[in-house]
Formats: sequence, structure tokens, C-alpha cells
Amino acid sequence: MAETYPAILFVHGFPFDHEQWRPQVTGLSRWRCIAPDLRGFHGGAAPTGGYAMSVYADDLAGVLDRSGIDRAVWCGLSMGGYILFEVLRRHPERVRGVILCDTKAEPDTAEAKAGRDELIRVAQRDGAAAIAERLLPKVLGTTTRARRPEVVAMVRAMASRLKVAGLVGALQAIRERPDSGPQLENIGVPTLVLGGSEDEISPAAGMRVMAQRIGGAKYVEVPEAGHLAPLERPELVNEALEDFLLHTSFG
Ligand code: MLT
Repeated sequence: MAETYPAILFVHGFPFDHEQWRPQVTGLSRWRCIAPDLRGFHGGAAPTGGYAMSVYADDLAGVLDRSGIDRAVWCGLSMGGYILFEVLRRHPERVRGVILCDTKAEPDTAEAKAGRDELIRVAQRDGAAAIAERLLPKVLGTTTRARRPEVVAMVRAMASRLKVAGLVGALQAIRERPDSGPQLENIGVPTLVLGGSEDEISPAAGMRVMAQRIGGAKYVEVPEAGHLAPLERPELVNEALEDFLLHTSFG
């Protein structure tokens, strides 16, 4: 049993916002859960430039400052994971533990970068709703798309309300993110890696390998879930999070 309940800072993915974590914030009520919107997303300000993983990381350290929290367990999904790697480089003293959901440490390939550029053009021409329609089939697993219409509707609404400046800024930041692979072996805090079995963006096999590279990391594969496993199978994910949080001794 952990000696104290650590605060948990949830970092959402792209193109989502804090709502993505509703089942966790609601279900893990004995922990202090903080789920902010990143700059450019939903409730956050959306400047026209200046987006980078380092900027998001510094913003989030500021969220902890304003919440009076020195150190937290950081839980990031996909782009949230990319930011978490940056936090580990820039603000390691703020991290008690790490939960990496449906993410990857590698940077974009040339082909992926070209895909980001294409999405930027679509966003600027047609707005966030067009991006939502393009990404929906990729971010949700086949089971969710077939059987969980309420999750599909929620994700569509979330992705459609993104501000274009924030959307473009996030795509540029994702496109330029550094390679975090060499850092995996040096993560020195308790780590849980969690992947959806139907995730097409960050496939489960890659998540398993990533966990094997992080000393002592625990890996959980969530069945019948895609890239948004915490929203698609909240009961299973909350169970895994509780198990990790209750049975880990955080420094
Ligand atoms: C996310 O969920 O944050 C995105 O899938 C990240 C990405 O496109 O690389």
C-alpha cells in the first residue's frame, strides 16, 4: 500500500481536451486528479504561434505550481506522453511516477511529417470538424466504433471544438518532437505502460516493447480498446490505474 495518495496530473492527447479523462477523474476520486486543457485546446488560450513540447511541459509545471503541488504522478495519453517525455527532461523533480497510455517514444518519420502538413492544410481550409472526421476512424478501436456510439459521439464533439490555431500549433509541435527513445532506459520513477489492443496509432506491440525498456515498468494491455483506451474501456483502465497507484511506493 502506498504511504500517501499522490496527486495525479492527466495530460490529454490530440485532438482532445480534459474531457477525455472524465472517467478517470470521476472514478479515482480518492486521489487528487488534475486534468487541464493544454494551450490551444478547448478552454485554454489559443495564441497563433509558439507551440512546442517544451512549452506544453513548462505550462504544466505551472499548473502544478498554481495547484500547490510539488510532485505528481503524470499520466499522459499519446501527445500527452510526448509531453511527459519532455517533462522528464525539463522538470524531472516534479515527477513521482509515470503512466504512459497509447503513446510512443519515437519521433515522426518523413511520411508522418508529410501527413501532419496535410492535416494542417485541411485544418486551415476546413476547420476542426473536418479533422475530427478524418481522425475518428483511427483514434477509436473497431469495437468502440461498432458498439459504443456514445463514445464515438463524445470524441467527435471533443475533436470538433478545437480552435484552429491550437490545432495547427499542436500538429507543428508533434511534427517537431524529438526522439525520446534513448531516454527510456533512464526513467527512474515507477512506471505503468498501458495500451489498447486495437490501437492503430500506437500499436500494443510497440507499447509492450517500450515497457520492457523502462526498468521495472508494468505493462497492461486493454482488450477491445483503441487509441483512447481510458475512454473506451474506463472500468478496466481505472482498475489498472488503481492497482498501480495503490501498490506502488512513490518516492
Ligand atoms: C494523439 O492522440 O495525441 C495523437 O494520436 C498523437 C499523434 O498523432 O502522434
